[in-house]
Amino acid sequence: MREIRTLRLTRRELETWLWWNCEPTAQSKESGWKPPTYCARASSRPHPVEIRIGVNTGEVVIRSISTSEGHVEYTPIGHTTNLASRMQAIARSGSILTSENTQRLAEGYFQSKALGPVQIKGMAQPVNVFEVAGLGPLRTRLQRLASRGYTKFVGRESELAQMRRALESARAAHGQLVAAMGDPGVGKSRLFFEFKAMAQSGCLVLEACSVSHGKASAYLPVIDLLKGYFKIATEDDDRARREP
Ligand SMILES: Nc1ncnc2c1ncn2[C@@H]1O[C@H](COP(=O)(O)OP(=O)(O)O)[C@@H](O)[C@H]1O
Ligand SMILES: [Mg+2]
Repeated sequence: MREIRTLRLTRRELETWLWWNCEPTAQSKESGWKPPTYCARASSRPHPVEIRIGVNTGEVVIRSISTSEGHVEYTPIGHTTNLASRMQAIARSGSILTSENTQRLAEGYFQSKALGPVQIKGMAQPVNVFEVAGLGPLRTRLQRLASRGYTKFVGRESELAQMRRALESARAAHGQLVAAMGDPGVGKSRLFFEFKAMAQSGCLVLEACSVSHGKASAYLPVIDLLKGYFKIATEDDDRARREP
């Protein structure tokens, strides 16, 4: 069966899809670049499923259509979805193409390869097209903001004092756990960032992030911590991982 559909994915869904399907080949390991062999797992099965994806980001107009059965269906229309559809149409099987709009927003979270300007049907100007090549080094919004510089850190004295007390106890061999809870954007990541900058001297600092697609993998943040401890990088092959 070969059904071509235009998928609209959120970043999390795209991340999940890459996570499950991204397998570097011998050739990509050699060159250091990971080509989009995302169908590798599927193609080893008797009936390979081939998928290609086009992504574009922008404002979308939703039109409602009443069907003959009396249901109302909603269809997105306009330039944004057209361009996503074109991206999908020109992507080779097993690859994900994005427009420049999407690439700019996803930069750092994903690695991408510029394919250059492409003349797209229905567009007056050539469009810069990018191919998703794998996961990038960034995981959090705060890490992404780092390149633009942070705002001046203010307040949070009592939280920092509490964290310092926990650190002192930990240094005195009484292990401590500190959890910061709050609404998105309230400053949890920044608090830990500042605490690390102020208090990490003399400590071994290991970091791990939980990711939305990690729920199905047991102990993923713990595995991340161990990888940090053993200095295992994503691009390390099995041999490098075993090296003492
Ligand atoms: N105490 C603070 N002083 C100045 N800026 C802050 C402070 N706390 C957070 N911010 C800024 O607010 C934004 C959101 O903070 P962040 O730590 O990412 O939130 P959270 O992790 O809770 O979602 C970031 O740009 C961060 O630099
Ligand atoms: Mg955060």
